[in-house]
Amino acid sequence: MELNKAIENIQETGFLEINIPKNIDLVAEIIKLKKEKNAVILAHYYQEPAIQDIADFVGDSLQLSYKAAEVDSDLIVFAGVHFMAETAKILNPQKKVVLPDLNAGCSLAESCEAKDLQALKDKHPDHLVITYVNTSAEVKAISDLCCTSSNAKKIVDSIPLDQPIIFAPDRNLGAWIQKETGREMLLWDGACVVHEAFSIDKLLNTHQANPNAKIIAHPESEDHILKTAEYIGSTAGLINYAKTNPAKEFIVATEAGILHEMQKEVPNKKLIPAPAVEDNSCACSECPYMKLNNMQKLYLCMKYELPEIQVPQDIQEKALIPIQRMLDISSKK
Ligand code: 13P
Ligand code: SF4
Repeated sequence: MELNKAIENIQETGFLEINIPKNIDLVAEIIKLKKEKNAVILAHYYQEPAIQDIADFVGDSLQLSYKAAEVDSDLIVFAGVHFMAETAKILNPQKKVVLPDLNAGCSLAESCEAKDLQALKDKHPDHLVITYVNTSAEVKAISDLCCTSSNAKKIVDSIPLDQPIIFAPDRNLGAWIQKETGREMLLWDGACVVHEAFSIDKLLNTHQANPNAKIIAHPESEDHILKTAEYIGSTAGLINYAKTNPAKEFIVATEAGILHEMQKEVPNKKLIPAPAVEDNSCACSECPYMKLNNMQKLYLCMKYELPEIQVPQDIQEKALIPIQRMLDISSKK
């Protein structure tokens, strides 16, 4: 497709549908564009290895939010999913934030529309609303506080015990936080398609075959998976555990993209991806949204600075409040 047509169609396609010459060295071109445009590439651990390797910073959702809040580059290239890029834009309304493919959504964000959350709030006006960052800017704009999987316990613990809470949208993370804090919360019924796909039977078989391996899991996983885990934490938490724990083998229950950075950190340890119910090509779980980004789309979005993330000013201002509260509480010792 030619450039003008591709730009015209971007709202439909979600990305720039342009053919790239086969002989182009994408790594060299992306590095050149980074310098020319004073751009920073922020990537999540679930991105494909080539993207993680070329990024200026790779992290979990919380680390990426902190990083987005402090960058001084003119262009933020977000290699992750839409809600993450949107959070970067909310924190940097004056900067240009681009995402390789606007279709890179999230099943959790999709499960919770602002109008439905507003309806629940109206039914429970005395409740405080904590939303996981895996939500749209509109949902954040009607939330009191945000959280990520790495600070959810701290955020909930910061609320007075007599204050009722609505926790949205991840029912698995919410149920785990209820156990961790001993607090009852009103849980939204959303879930992550990737973490709900782990098979408990296959996981137990894998453990039987690798009895010395420690199971580690992301809290978006279901309770029966979490019950088997020696450690539960965010993507960054899981990498840190594999690094600092003396065990030599781990079964890792989260999106398989994490294995790239984890293996770099523990080159001599054996990492086994937790198996999913439906066997796919790698018998592990990949996020279909995260994997919409690739090196070609990354190159095009840097070259043409499209597609760009836009957040209406009134939503941006309201959504910033719960995000900033989260960052402030989270950074307290
Ligand atoms: P982390 O905050 O642990 O990186 O999780 C983000 C996410 O989308 C997990 O599925
Ligand atoms: Fe959303 Fe799950 Fe993908 Fe994370 S892994 S972006 S929670 S769908």
